[in-house]
Amino acid sequence: MYTLGIITSSDKGSKGEREDKSGEVIKNITEKCGFITKRYVVLPDEREELANEMKYMSDEIGVDLVLTTGGTGFSDRDITPEATKDIIHKEALGIAEAIRNYSFTITKRAMLSRGTAGIRNKTLIVNMPGSPKACEEILDYILNDLKHGLDIMKGSASECARK
Ligand code: MTE
Repeated sequence: MYTLGIITSSDKGSKGEREDKSGEVIKNITEKCGFITKRYVVLPDEREELANEMKYMSDEIGVDLVLTTGGTGFSDRDITPEATKDIIHKEALGIAEAIRNYSFTITKRAMLSRGTAGIRNKTLIVNMPGSPKACEEILDYILNDLKHGLDIMKGSASECARK
């Protein structure tokens, strides 16, 4: 079992003006894959608020994984990758590369997501785009292998499991 925090970054969602379908998709897919959601929040696209929430999930709750959705694009308000970079201790760019690499096989617009990934303490933080479709595609692709990374991060992987 792995513990999870979900952050939806959406001005409209945080005001209740838009249903947060992406957060629900993340919760459903991860729960089927052995993750327990410890905290799930919808926040406005505010750098400090997002960074503080990631810190809280890592430092206070100690979740294994934080998945964010939204705020990775090119609009003025999109700020999730910057908030993530503010608080991570180490980059995990291979994950961001894998996400974009796979996403390119689905849509060239994957180039428009600036999402990143990194580690704070014993928490891995991964940015995903805002659409529920994108979240589903990406999680189907990365989740299984992320678990091996989480095991290594937590010091519980005995050997490198080959695929
Ligand atoms: N990645 C996947 N796998 N599937 C998608 O549909 N949409 C792209 C991209 N990455 C997409 C994707 C689009 S259209 C945009 S604008 C960017 O993600 C940024 O999305 P965001 O601003 O909602 O974070």
